[in-house]
Amino acid sequence: MTTEPQVIEVTLESTLKSVEKAEDLAREACAKAGFSEDDQHRVGMAVHESMINAILHGNKNDASKRVVLKIQVHPDRLEIRIRDQGTGFEPKSVRDPLEAENLLKVSGRGIFLIRTFVDEFRVRKAEGAGTEVTLVKRKYPNDRRSELGG
Ligand SMILES: Nc1ncnc2c1ncn2[C@@H]1O[C@H](COP(=O)(O)OP(=O)(O)O)[C@@H](O)[C@H]1O
Ligand SMILES: [Mg+2]
Repeated sequence: MTTEPQVIEVTLESTLKSVEKAEDLAREACAKAGFSEDDQHRVGMAVHESMINAILHGNKNDASKRVVLKIQVHPDRLEIRIRDQGTGFEPKSVRDPLEAENLLKVSGRGIFLIRTFVDEFRVRKAEGAGTEVTLVKRKYPNDRRSELGG
């Protein structure tokens, strides 16, 4: 048995069709990796929100800019990276949708949802240019061994 993760990588245009495509690929990978239907759904929604953010906030809807989706299937987890060609953002400065003043706002819930649906959410400046977000979904999130890589 190989320990190399299985990798799916696609370069997508900044369109709504790409959001659908990314969501489908992520759901398929989840299903193949043996996640429950609920988890497939959660990961699909997290990827949906991340793709919208990459296209809208990162690439500013510029049709010439691309989004790179990379899905790595490890035995104990799925890692999904979504890279845009924008200038990035500081996740700590994103407002909390649960604060009283934000409760009635219709926007500003994407990252909150992503954090709820996956086990890890990270943002970093990609090599070269752009922003890369990483979503990690663990098979056994309550198992300490999965944190230690074993
Ligand atoms: N890929 C990205 N590039 C730049 N800024 C981003 C990106 N993703 C999120 N953001 C910033 O984080 C904010 C919060 O994102 P989110 O919670 O999805 O809410 P919304 O998209 O409705 O504004 C966005 O308004 C934007 O300022
Ligand atoms: Mg959003």
